[in-house]
Amino acid sequence: MNFYVLTLFPEMIEQGLSTSITGRAMQKGLVSLSAVNIRDYAANKHKKVDDYTYGGGAGMLMQAQPVYDACMAVQSGLEKPARVVYMTPQGSIFTQQKAKELAQEENLIILCGHYEGIDERVLEEVVTDEISIGDYVLTGGELPAMVVIDTVSRLIPGVLGNGVSADTDSFMNGLLEYPQYSRPEVWRDKAVPAVLLSGDHAKVDQWRREQSLKRTKERRPDLYEKYMEEHPEAEKKGKRKG
Ligand code: ADE
Repeated sequence: MNFYVLTLFPEMIEQGLSTSITGRAMQKGLVSLSAVNIRDYAANKHKKVDDYTYGGGAGMLMQAQPVYDACMAVQSGLEKPARVVYMTPQGSIFTQQKAKELAQEENLIILCGHYEGIDERVLEEVVTDEISIGDYVLTGGELPAMVVIDTVSRLIPGVLGNGVSADTDSFMNGLLEYPQYSRPEVWRDKAVPAVLLSGDHAKVDQWRREQSLKRTKERRPDLYEKYMEEHPEAEKKGKRKG
């Protein structure tokens, strides 16, 4: 999968994603990342990309022309037009479901705003999806773009490495993940739950499922309710053994 990020701070994107799992995914050629500097497309000799807002108000706005030209430069190199995601607190909230949907794309263009935003006309012209990473406001779209790229990348086969799958993650099946333990068996007088040492895979699976349901009910009643509406048989099963 190829990510193209339109930004005024390309080094932020490159540095932020070049280490750890996303960095390795790029080295392996499973994903590619190209950070495109919008300023390179400014048509004026001062390379200015922002200006005052019509109607007044504080702050500067990113102008339409350089954003449009940067986006078209990327699109013109692709076989078919890619989706263009604009990172904005006004977008729909990013979820695991949306990440799964985006992971199906071959190419994805992500547009990062700065200052007070971007001229509405270019957004109308080029943007296909508006995504927010939560109900709070950051100084720019770069961190949100990195959140999206990280989340989508780890769903691409091979990125998480041999045999590791994203299928058991929290949210992947609509529930939070069960608690996990590693060595030693006892740490600060706390023992690992006995069932996990029993070697009985069916019992372990049953325990994990119960823990998932319990956690989700306690910590995210909203998700629990939705899950129970979609899986009415789960409540009985979850209760059967405590
Ligand atoms: N840009 C600024 N704040 C944002 C947010 N919460 N989500 C996406 N993009 C943003």
